[in-house]
Amino acid sequence: LAVFAQEKHRPQLHFTPPTMWMNDPNGMFYANGTYHLYYQYHPESTVWGPMHWGHATSKDLMKWEHQPIALHPDSLGLIFSGSAVIDHQNTSGLGRNGVAPVVAIYTSHNMDWEKAGRIDRENQSISYSLDGGQTFTKFAGNPVIKNPGVADFRDPNVSWYAPGKKWIMALATQDRETFYSSPDLKNWTKESEFGAKFGAHGGVWECPDLFPMQVDGKTKWVLIVNINPGAPNGGSGAQYFVGDFDGHQFIAQDEETRWVDYGRDNYAGVTFHETGDKRIFMGWMSNWDYATVVPTGSWRSANTLARDLKLLNQDGKYLLASTPVEAVSNYVNSTKTIKSNQGVKTASALQRLSGKLPVQDFSITLSNAKGEKVIIGFEAASNRYFVDRDASGDLSFSTKFAGKAYAPRFSKADTIDFSLITDVASAEFFADGGLSALTTIYFPSEPFKNLKVTATKGLPFLLEDLKPSI
Ligand code: FRU
Repeated sequence: LAVFAQEKHRPQLHFTPPTMWMNDPNGMFYANGTYHLYYQYHPESTVWGPMHWGHATSKDLMKWEHQPIALHPDSLGLIFSGSAVIDHQNTSGLGRNGVAPVVAIYTSHNMDWEKAGRIDRENQSISYSLDGGQTFTKFAGNPVIKNPGVADFRDPNVSWYAPGKKWIMALATQDRETFYSSPDLKNWTKESEFGAKFGAHGGVWECPDLFPMQVDGKTKWVLIVNINPGAPNGGSGAQYFVGDFDGHQFIAQDEETRWVDYGRDNYAGVTFHETGDKRIFMGWMSNWDYATVVPTGSWRSANTLARDLKLLNQDGKYLLASTPVEAVSNYVNSTKTIKSNQGVKTASALQRLSGKLPVQDFSITLSNAKGEKVIIGFEAASNRYFVDRDASGDLSFSTKFAGKAYAPRFSKADTIDFSLITDVASAEFFADGGLSALTTIYFPSEPFKNLKVTATKGLPFLLEDLKPSI
């Protein structure tokens, strides 16, 4: 903690790898009071390279303990993104002595084949753990799904489909999702495809997640599809579809493309498995536009805070809303009320600001004594939220970093409720119960400890000083 706390730009509330390069969160699940988080990890460099699955555990999704690397590259290739399930009924037969195996399902990416120009370089493999996800054994029969001739064929996300007594896999296959099913996690059958005519197509589809949610007394299915590039504000982003799934096919409620988060820094997000009625999401808080060159020292990248997902009925359509998990409230140090148009100095960069405003232009400015700043707010004329990091500090590392990102407002309510959580190098903004979200990272020369809400009508807001979770 002491060492990390001293590192420039090191987040204090967000998960970061101890050192070196991290990208996508992988294989997240909950068991016996512990959340498991795996992640794309290159332990030998602060830029992307041969991928491993790093591992960390947490009791509350805020404070993480680093664990030994869970999966190392093998003769089939690098360990790309994927998911993990608990095989409660031992359908795979990989369990022993009554212990249900944790089975990781991921993409084996063969670099030699890629260099040789082979299109079938990505295949799906499994590994199993008999100690609750700590150590894994590679399945001898890998790969379990062979590449049919699609260069981008990866990021399997598997869950148990109880009505059909089978496993379902969502797999990102270039410009669409392909769904497979299996009785035993080893033998897979193609069921259907979704997306060639839906959603954004400015880049490759990656990291899907398919899961049911309860809303208005019925079950709707959510399909998250990450895409890079092609996000609404540039580079990487997470689109989602809401619809129905019958064990074979996903049917979307409409043809709209909507995004889990409109900020530039929430990619490859998927949800934890085995969390009961809750759906908890976590994303990689970066963007392939500049992830490899951000000015951090011994490590690169952080994850978003864990977020609770909900479906909200908006004009007869179901929209996904996200808000930070309640455990954030356990990290509140002190609380005060502030008014708009009055600047305040905060104790540290770690803050939560929340409040309610009439639908009017407003802005929240985070700044430091150097005149560096990030502005987050709402433009009534265009009915959009925005985050502007044009003057946020170091912008020199990439021409794609500066700029303003916008999120549409979906709610028709006559007040805007919002909350904003700031850390050393990030701000996560949620409006209208989380229907509109904007996540952004930044690299000021000193932390943002000045905060000011500007609005025509002066209103009180709650400002909470947060303590580090690392
Ligand atoms: C997404 C991604 C995945 C892939 C992984 C490789 O960021 O490109 O599609 O599995 O990263 O690290």
